[in-house]
Amino acid sequence: MLRVIAIDGPAASGKSSTAGRVAEQLGWAHLDSGALYRALTLAALDNIGEGGRGTGEGWSGQRIVSLADELPVRLVLVGEVFRAEVAGVDVGEAIRSERVTRHVSVIAAIPEVRTWANAQQRRAVEGGGGVGGVVVDGRDIGTVVFPEAPLKIFLTATPDERARRRLSQRGEAVDGDLVQRESQALAARDAADSTRRIAPLKPAADAVLLDTTALTLEQQVSRVVELARGLFPG
Ligand code: DC
Repeated sequence: MLRVIAIDGPAASGKSSTAGRVAEQLGWAHLDSGALYRALTLAALDNIGEGGRGTGEGWSGQRIVSLADELPVRLVLVGEVFRAEVAGVDVGEAIRSERVTRHVSVIAAIPEVRTWANAQQRRAVEGGGGVGGVVVDGRDIGTVVFPEAPLKIFLTATPDERARRRLSQRGEAVDGDLVQRESQALAARDAADSTRRIAPLKPAADAVLLDTTALTLEQQVSRVVELARGLFPG
C-alpha cells in the first residue's frame, strides 16, 4: 500500500500547517509541493526574467524545465521535511516573497512544468527511505500526482477566514479593509488555479472534504491523524 496522505485545497486553507503537523504526529515526512512550484518560479525570475510585459507570459515550458534540471531545482529530505533547493541553496524563505507569489500561478499552469514537478514528487516519495510515509500537500496531489493515495483530504474554508489566517500569519492587523483585499487576492488565485486547463484545483472523487472555517488547527490535525491511524497499519 502506498504510504501517502494527499492534502489538497485552496490557498491559505491551512494545508501546509496541517500536513506538517500530521506528519510530525505520525512520524512521517512532509512534502509541500507548492514549495517546488515556488522554487521553480524563483529560479525562472532570477535566471530568465519576467518575460513578456513583466507577466511571465513569455516563459516557455521547455526552457524552464531545462533550467530546473541544470541548476538544479530539487527536493531534498532534511530530517523529516522535504526542502526546496535551487543550485544547492535552501530557498525556504525567498520563495515566500510577494514577487514569487505574484508569478507562481503562471508557472504552475505550464504543462511541461507540471510533468516535471510530478516526477520530482514521485521520485521524492519513492526515495523517502526510512520514514513511515509521506504527507504531501498541494492542489492536485489526490487527483493527479498520487491518485492511488489511500487517504485524500480536501481542505476548505471561506475566503474571508482564509484571508484572516493569512494576515495573522504575517503578523499584520486583521482589519476589515485588509481582510477584504486579501480575500479578493486569494479568490483571484483560486480562480486561476481552479480554471486552468491542466490539473485544476478540485477534490478527488474519493477525497474527504474538511471545512475548517470553524475548526482550530489542532482540531483539523486530529481529524486527519485519526483517519490515518484507522487506515495505515502501524
Ligand atoms: O500552496 P502555495 O501557495 O505555496 O502554492 C503556490 C502555487 O503553486 C499556487 O498558486 C498553485 C501552485 N500549485 C499547484 O499548482 N499545484 C500544487 N500541487 C501545488 C501548488
